[in-house]
Amino acid sequence: MNPVKIGLLGLGTVGGGTATVLKRNAEEIARRAGRGIIVDYAATLEPERAGELGLSDLRITQDAFDVVNDPDISIVVELIGGYSPAKELVLQAIENGKHVVTANKALIAVHGNEIFAKAQEKGVMVAFEAAVAGGIPIIKALREGLAANKIEWLAGIINGTGNFILTEMRDKGRAFDDVLAEAQALGYAEADPTFDVEGIDAAHKLSILSSIAFGIPLQFEKTYTEGISKISRDDVTYASELGYNIKHLGIARRTKEGVEQRVHPTMIPKTRLIANVNGVMNAVLVNGDAVGHTLYYGAGAGDEPTASAVVADIIDVVRVLTTDPENRVPHLAFQPDSLADTPIVSMDAIETGFYLRMRAANHAGVLAEVTKILGERNISIEAFIQKEPSEDADKVDIILLTHRVNEGDMNAAIKEIEALDVITGDVMRIRVESLK
Ligand code: HSE
Repeated sequence: MNPVKIGLLGLGTVGGGTATVLKRNAEEIARRAGRGIIVDYAATLEPERAGELGLSDLRITQDAFDVVNDPDISIVVELIGGYSPAKELVLQAIENGKHVVTANKALIAVHGNEIFAKAQEKGVMVAFEAAVAGGIPIIKALREGLAANKIEWLAGIINGTGNFILTEMRDKGRAFDDVLAEAQALGYAEADPTFDVEGIDAAHKLSILSSIAFGIPLQFEKTYTEGISKISRDDVTYASELGYNIKHLGIARRTKEGVEQRVHPTMIPKTRLIANVNGVMNAVLVNGDAVGHTLYYGAGAGDEPTASAVVADIIDVVRVLTTDPENRVPHLAFQPDSLADTPIVSMDAIETGFYLRMRAANHAGVLAEVTKILGERNISIEAFIQKEPSEDADKVDIILLTHRVNEGDMNAAIKEIEALDVITGDVMRIRVESLK
């Protein structure tokens, strides 16, 4: 059988990794796919990249639409990232009857519903394993391996840059900006690193996981999104003293009211495996009604780890090139006409424990004022730390850990605490999850 010709859009970190893995493992990949797979055409603004990657036979263009419109190309691999022109390129590829593989989480999270509908209409596949958690095959696990289960919840460390920053702050006391600069130099961070530190990248990935877990359309815009930029080294230290690690988590949970879909810094007991996932590594913990807890761990970014997922998708597409489109694994795991309209739960209705850090006047009665506000709202305190102030200090850090409480009640309590004369500045809050 003739080899399948693929076209790469982008020869950057992931594009380069994909070309390298396809070439290095060509024989093994052909044995798996049942046909050879060759990179025939690539779009890049740096044509010298092909030579650097040892791909001198490769046809190169600077216009990605040349690849998308080329009749010899069966599979378009979009590794440019971002919303545009990635969306236009992918839609054009589908219009031309080509299958698409993409690592683009922003594209899938925001435009996935439209893209999948068009792919369905045209009978082509859009595969996106590399869009979430890099090399970890979490899409495949959720969509196929766990297909028997009713998924109850999942929680993931799905942004490597954020996890790297939190780990280095905790273990080496390094400053936030310094670690972020290193993540950028290592090629882990997004082109716009605010996507990493403000949680947008994780929210893209979580909305994809949530749709696949619960069979609902992609709803990135309804994902509660909070980043790690306000976490201080003190918070990391206090959390540790209380027996917790701070992780930037994406959490999707099925409840009676709907689906919780939220991304925020979370304190997790150090005894949980996922609390010990460090550096740029990613992990996703999934709780299914039949299987119980399963944990998926691995590199969430980087050239070859991400290429591992891209190439697996290419092989999947090659294997099913001739399959009846109606009988393929559905893009969002559930049949398109069986997606549910379960609502996304408002953040105010969610219950978690809370870590609160506040800067308080150092005199009698202050704590009583704070605990009175909490008590009036039935917010019960689980643990408490007050640091001994330096001799001349007139202010102290107070740290409280609460039992589970409704977010709306906590918001109201924090507002009242911040209005107290004896409290300076904002109250820092981190949600606490036991993940049991
Ligand atoms: N910026 C992302 C991260 C890259 O740090 O996880 C992988 O999606």
